[in-house]
Amino acid sequence: MARTRIEPALLGLVRPGFEPELAAEFGHRAAAAGHWGHAMTERGSGLVRFVSPEAAALDAALPFDGLIFARQKLLGLARLEGLDPGDRISPLLEALDTVREAVVAAPGGAHFGELVVEHSDSDAGRALAGLARGFGNALRPALRKAGWLAASDDARKPRLHVLLHSGTALDLASSRPGDRSPWPGGIPRLRQPPHAPSRSAAKLDEAIHTLLTAEERTQLLREGMRAADLGAAPGGWTWVLVRAGLRVSAVDNGPLKEPVLGHPQVEHLRADGFRWQPARPLDWMVCDMVEQPRRVAGRMAQWFREGWCRNAVFNLKLPMKKRWEETRYCLDLFRAEAGELKALRARQLYHDREEITVFARR
Ligand SMILES: C[S@@+](CC[C@H](N)C(=O)[O-])C[C@H]1O[C@@H](n2cnc3c(N)ncnc32)[C@H](O)[C@@H]1O
Repeated sequence: MARTRIEPALLGLVRPGFEPELAAEFGHRAAAAGHWGHAMTERGSGLVRFVSPEAAALDAALPFDGLIFARQKLLGLARLEGLDPGDRISPLLEALDTVREAVVAAPGGAHFGELVVEHSDSDAGRALAGLARGFGNALRPALRKAGWLAASDDARKPRLHVLLHSGTALDLASSRPGDRSPWPGGIPRLRQPPHAPSRSAAKLDEAIHTLLTAEERTQLLREGMRAADLGAAPGGWTWVLVRAGLRVSAVDNGPLKEPVLGHPQVEHLRADGFRWQPARPLDWMVCDMVEQPRRVAGRMAQWFREGWCRNAVFNLKLPMKKRWEETRYCLDLFRAEAGELKALRARQLYHDREEITVFARR
């Protein structure tokens, strides 16, 4: 027998194992925005449910771009359990009718412009990938017939999300344009930069695609610009910058690998990344040095304070237990010491393991 529970909540997808960090982040940011709620999660599930009677207001108060540990942020509408695998669609349509009032009606007919059927990134979640595809294909025409979904995909309207937990349980949720990850599960579909000397190249590539706006990507990353890469070896991040046309000072005592090794746009400097400074201001500095995050944050702030770079992407490694507290401490320290910034955005990227990535712009 299908059971539907109307439980207003913010839902956050997260790297499995980092649920406590996202729960703490939701709690902290909700309190700062003057909203009440409590986080519910299971370690390893890849999902945090922040239950709040003010979930819709909270959704508006906590923009996706401002969240660090959430891969995706959704406004939960209803939880369905005990579904009959023979007919999951009827109870889902009934649940939508029940929450009709709560669903923000978009102008121009159908409420939703797109449907995404997805799952968390846990082992159990990933096993649902096939079902998600099949169910999406069956559900789309039913939603169109019932007037819930636009006749063709329209990214300017709210999106309906079906978050599968098993073959018999799911969450119905929504997201608003400009306030969500465009990718199912919040996992960017980007190809590994070809010929890269290390897999880390994918991390900087993802940072550029997710932490910078499209306008910033074209304005701030241009041929002939100059960059420093601190902790560059074997050269994955340097390679991403070289492919964008930049000239790079690659600072590392370790060896570079081809095709970065000996590349005409690359100067290899065997030096300490915490002491080296450029002779004149650079467009970019990137840093992937494995070091205490407070030490990295302090040095990165010095680069901005001294005017050594205009833009930066750097990693903060978080091998400690209190990762949310450490994240806040490091970003506060950076903000306090860097001087005036046009942008400061941080996120745990899909390619980040025990770390987060930060983009800063002067
Ligand atoms: C995770 S690896 C960098 C990988 C690189 N981003 C890539 O894409 O190939 C970290 C690097 O930081 C370097 N490193 C650590 N401490 C450093 C320091 N104080 N100065 C310069 N390099 C340092 C290490 O030698 C190592 O090569």
